[in-house]
Amino acid sequence: MSKPLDLDFIRKQFPPFSNPDFKGQAFFENAGGSFACNQVIDRLCTYYKETKVQPYYPYAASSKAGQAMDESYTSFAHYLNVKPDEVFFGPSTSQNTYVLAQAMRGYLKPGDEIIVTNQDHEANSGAWRRLAEFGMVVKEWQVETENGQLQTQGLKALLSDKTKLVTFPHCSNIVGEINPVKEWAKLAHEVGATVVADGVSYAGHGFPDIVDLGVDIYVFSLYKTYGPHQGAMVIREEIMHNLKNQSHFFNDSEIHKRIIPAGPDHAQVAAAHGVSQYFDAVFEHHFGKDDQENRGRAVHNLFRASEKARLEPLMSYLKDNTKLRVIGSSHLENRAPTIAIVAKNVSSPELVKRLVKHGIMSGYGHFYAARLVEAMGIKLETGVARFSFVHYTSDADIKQLIEALEQEL
Ligand SMILES: Cc1ncc(COP(=O)(O)O)c(C=O)c1O
Repeated sequence: MSKPLDLDFIRKQFPPFSNPDFKGQAFFENAGGSFACNQVIDRLCTYYKETKVQPYYPYAASSKAGQAMDESYTSFAHYLNVKPDEVFFGPSTSQNTYVLAQAMRGYLKPGDEIIVTNQDHEANSGAWRRLAEFGMVVKEWQVETENGQLQTQGLKALLSDKTKLVTFPHCSNIVGEINPVKEWAKLAHEVGATVVADGVSYAGHGFPDIVDLGVDIYVFSLYKTYGPHQGAMVIREEIMHNLKNQSHFFNDSEIHKRIIPAGPDHAQVAAAHGVSQYFDAVFEHHFGKDDQENRGRAVHNLFRASEKARLEPLMSYLKDNTKLRVIGSSHLENRAPTIAIVAKNVSSPELVKRLVKHGIMSGYGHFYAARLVEAMGIKLETGVARFSFVHYTSDADIKQLIEALEQEL
């Protein structure tokens, strides 16, 4: 059933690829935020044009608005292999983890231990670390300073019967390493801890099967998965019961409200379903309409195979280049196409600026993974130059980047 990704079809789903303003430019800031697909943009516009009212009342526009929102819960549940009541949309991942940390205070007690990493984006770190103010004991699982990797041994050394919460990234937004989440979740569960994984830098490369991963809470951001600017979360049913209501007191029994105190952005929640419609379109274009069950895995594998094929030439160009340091491992197997470098003779901001004239859209800095950047001995002020791509990136984009780097390094 393996097939190559039809890139012409894929790129037709994203307006920038036919926008003359983007002509000649290659986009390498996808880990910052991907392009939104037509399906999402259409749903957002439709919501604003036809159903911009309070949802879930009996009149036509309102019930249609509610239905559009429900479609998002249902289709995300399908793609993530969980129940619709386990899917949540909130303003952003940073906001969602902040609220989650407050909600955790419902069952964490002073003296309970929390494991955080210094590989994470601050969104999956700071909120948990602040629980120390309430007497919880925060332990840091540290990366190897050479390559930014987290070793399983490090987790094992920190786990104890007091560990109640373990948090880590599915994939780092700088190191690009895809972590062995399944193995780590199993180890954490053996001591009875709850597991929170940050999937923000992973989910754009294909939605994971949450049951297979074995985590209790999985957070990610839709604006990096071709969707609107919203955070999404899976909170497994068993865990939800332990979380303290963070919404108005009368919303305690409203499953989709109790951990999202902000009033929902109805239009964006409704638009999220467009991401699933995009995945459906990709699936049907490549495999036909059958096999509903395996859609998620098939789309995920299609994306991943395409990304890997393009990562190979870029990594082989970068890894032996003496003018730069590649951050993280140069092995492709467990690598997302998120590559950070530090050039020897030019600062990251200057390099990114110079690349603009070659049509390269990229970014620099610490990307809110400041603890990781510092641990690896990289200056925070200038940080890394990051080139991140996804399945819609073409061979020509990669060639353009390599040629540009060749001239500017
Ligand atoms: C790995 C990772 N985690 C969390 C976040 C925070 O996401 P949000 O912007 O939705 O708060 C980001 C954002 O860049 C990220 O890259």
